[in-house]
Amino acid sequence: MGIKTKSSGRRSNKTSKNKNKERKCTPKVQVLYETCKEVFENCGPGIIPSPENIQRLKDVMDGMTGADVGLRPTMQIFRPQWIDKFPYISYMKIYECDKFSIGLFCLPPSAVIPLHNHPGMTVFCKLLFGKMYVNSFDWVKADSPNENGVFSTEPLKIANSAKLNSNFKARPAANGVIPAGALRLANTKKDCDISAPCNTCVLYPADGGNLHTFTAKTACAFLDVLGPPYCDPQGRHCSYYRKYPFSSLPVVGKKSVAEEQKQGYAWLEETEKKEGSLLYAKNYTGPQVQPNDLA
Ligand SMILES: [Fe+2]
Repeated sequence: MGIKTKSSGRRSNKTSKNKNKERKCTPKVQVLYETCKEVFENCGPGIIPSPENIQRLKDVMDGMTGADVGLRPTMQIFRPQWIDKFPYISYMKIYECDKFSIGLFCLPPSAVIPLHNHPGMTVFCKLLFGKMYVNSFDWVKADSPNENGVFSTEPLKIANSAKLNSNFKARPAANGVIPAGALRLANTKKDCDISAPCNTCVLYPADGGNLHTFTAKTACAFLDVLGPPYCDPQGRHCSYYRKYPFSSLPVVGKKSVAEEQKQGYAWLEETEKKEGSLLYAKNYTGPQVQPNDLA
């Protein structure tokens, strides 16, 4: 490759110009796919792309709007259709392989994506239009992940005499131990509204807000890139959580938190019941990705 480019400067410039021209004409979603392919090529569970590659992918996503994926806020899917307490959400898969996935979440006003995790993943999230409330968390103590990039959860020791909030499903044994995975301390990362246009958010296996919930303030859509995607057989399940204020559980464990910092913490309890909208898969109708293999 190097020898060919050196053989003629003029030819190289021409090729480079043609490549730039080609890229300008290429649909942005195709550029996104090709960038993901390069960025996640050597990644896997718990393996984060390099800072340069993260910036490359961010730059591509930062420049995208709803129009680039065929979405407008006036479309039917953004009109609330209520099921129980929440309007349902549409998910459109644009592309998925074992290294990464690209998809779209379409939320009518008041739709809620329940609090969930992204085990071992690096996630890029770009709000294309609209406004939504974001509440995100990281585990306070992130132990070393296992071979699937999943973080372990320590059992939690509380005082035998402690009075627990009656809403907690996690009940301590006689020795005051709440089972591993049932309840865990998390640090608040974001607790705010975001509105488009805005830049892409990036979260990592252990920080950046690996657990999050979104509430649509208006009709909104976001582009979601996961590297690697969820995979049940490989132990990367999507788990759902219920949040409790930090003050609702008296702790006698090793973790001590200064009074003024308590607002920044919450207890998360894994739950089977998702507290939010149902998600329906819809066909993606925007510009199609043309998959290709790296030579
Ligand atoms: Fe998510």
